[in-house]
Amino acid sequence: KYEKIWLIFGLGSLILFLAIIGFAAFYKGTHPQSHIETIDPQNIEANENFKPENLGLTKVEEGKYVVNIVASAFNYDLGIDEKGKRVNKIRIPKGSKVLFQITTKDVVHGFNVAGTNVNMMVEPGHISRYETTLKNTGEFTIVCNEYCGLGHHLMFGTVEVY
Ligand code: CUA
Repeated sequence: KYEKIWLIFGLGSLILFLAIIGFAAFYKGTHPQSHIETIDPQNIEANENFKPENLGLTKVEEGKYVVNIVASAFNYDLGIDEKGKRVNKIRIPKGSKVLFQITTKDVVHGFNVAGTNVNMMVEPGHISRYETTLKNTGEFTIVCNEYCGLGHHLMFGTVEVY
């Protein structure tokens, strides 16, 4: 007799939990990253977004930009400028919609544009994406907020919104 009660209780709580998860997922929009795209960390350049010439800031259309970044210990690769110098700073007009796409060659890194809502974990074999509208002007420092080795504190870059 008691087994039956417990069985019903167990099933009941299972249904309740599923209902809560379902509610959270559908009504509140809290769910894991919807499309997790994978990438071969040994051959990042095979992905169009991460070919050397496509790294850094690209204007898609008026007010819309894409920033492709390859993280590695201990650097964010934002491509090179016309003079062949490594880019460490990107400049984006205020109010632009920006899609950040980032992956890593080696270990887990962080990608946090301090002072904005851009804050991602970058895992080997995956592409992290985040789209945002940059509403405030200023210089924002890109920092790595996942400990990735001895040079962790040296990983940084700058996003200037003007
Ligand atoms: Cu990269 Cu810490």
